Formats: sequence, structure tokens, C-alpha cells
Amino acid sequence: MREPNNNAGATAGASSDTLSSMNDDAFFPATAMPDRDWWAALWPDPLGVLRSLGLSPGMTVLDLCCGDGYFTAPLAKLVDGQAYALDLNPAMLKQAQGALANAGSAVKAWICADARYLAEHIPEPLDYALIANTFHGVPDQTALARAVAAVLKPQGRFAVVNWHRRPREETTVLNTPRGPRTDMRMSPESLRAVVEPGGFILDAVIDLPPYHYGAVFRAAGTG
Ligand SMILES: C[S@@+](CC[C@H](N)C(=O)[O-])C[C@H]1O[C@@H](n2cnc3c(N)ncnc32)[C@H](O)[C@@H]1O
Repeated sequence: MREPNNNAGATAGASSDTLSSMNDDAFFPATAMPDRDWWAALWPDPLGVLRSLGLSPGMTVLDLCCGDGYFTAPLAKLVDGQAYALDLNPAMLKQAQGALANAGSAVKAWICADARYLAEHIPEPLDYALIANTFHGVPDQTALARAVAAVLKPQGRFAVVNWHRRPREETTVLNTPRGPRTDMRMSPESLRAVVEPGGFILDAVIDLPPYHYGAVFRAAGTG
């Protein structure tokens, strides 16, 4: 895992964007961006994952905690640039910008900010928000769900991609155990218990082999 907490050169590569006051404590625990070798081995078809979660052309979307852009690049392409990408780590955003440039895709804005304050940075209601491989580390998960609900259209969707609640020693990639500590992993049921009070109803749980699932929630507000 790379260390996420080096904020040197905080604005580098994060053009346009609102830079929240940052400190290392703001990073969610156990959410450093994995190294690309095993991440690509684990996720050989990121576009297929996005499609299986119901993301489709015509949507305006948010990749929350986008990291180095591994999912952001195909996502932005899928929705023809109608995407926002947010991460607290400017070095990650810089890498993500490179990934999108290589893929020939673009986003509406790069946002360098704490996910907990995302509503301050999203200027329009969204169809879909995705958080992948990060929610397990969020200290107040219902509060984050509530913050996501605030930026969605009525009936908008929120997908959480999580590691299955399996012992870490079983989830090997390239012959090494990977992912968050076993005790941080959430079952779909425990995820539902914290996200629904934030203003959502669980729509579907999609298995994402070998080690993940995607839980897709729908905003429970009016509409
Ligand atoms: C494990 S990476 C996942 C990246 C990407 N979603 C993926 O699945 O490839 C988690 C990302 O969350 C970011 N992050 C951690 N705490 C954050 C916070 N409070 N606000 C915004 N981003 C945060 C980290 O900088 C890191 O890039």
C-alpha cells in the first residue's frame, strides 16, 4: 500500500478545484490506494464492473474517493465526461488526471476535498455516486451516506463496492493476502444497516468476483 498522507504540493494537478483544509487525520483509515500491479490483476475489467452496477451513458455521476483513477477513467468514458472525481489526496488526483488523459476521457471537475464535505463541491444534482474500496474505513458511515444523498436527484443511486467479509488471509492476489483487515470488512447486511438511515433503500447486491460485492442503494427521498 502507498501512504496516502503526503500532502506536499497539495494543489498540484488538482486544477479548478476547491481545496479543503486538509490534515492527515481527515483520511479514512485503511484506505491507501493499492499498488497497480495487484489492483489490475484483481480488477481486469473495470468497465464491466461499472456496467454491472447499472452505470450507463446519459448519467451524471460522482466517483467518490477516486484514487488514481482506475475506475474513473472507464467511468468518465462511459458517461461521456459527465462525471466528477473527488479525492483528498492531490497526488492521487494527479495520477488520475494522467490515467484519464491516457484513456482519452475527461471529467467535469477534479475535486480535492474531504468526502465528508462533498456537498460543498458538487454544483448539480447527480444520478449516481460510486464509492469503491473505501467505505470500510469511514468512521461515521451513516453521515457519509447522508452527505451523498444530499447531492443526488430523487431516486438517484449510490453504489458501495466493498470487500466481502472473508478472512484477509483467504483473499490473495498475486499470492499475497490483500485488502483491509478482516475485522474492518462489512457484510451486505451490516452495510445496509448503516447506509439506509442516511436516506437510502437497498436496491440490489451484485457479486463482483472473486472478493467483492457492490451494493446499490436508491435515494429514499421524494420523487
Ligand atoms: C483504496 S483507494 C480506492 C480508490 C478507488 N476508488 C478504487 O477503488 O480504485 C481509497 C481512496 O480514498 C481516498 N480518501 C481517503 N480518505 C478520504 C477522505 N476523507 N476524503 C476523500 N478521499 C479520501 C484516498 O486518498 C484513496 O485515494
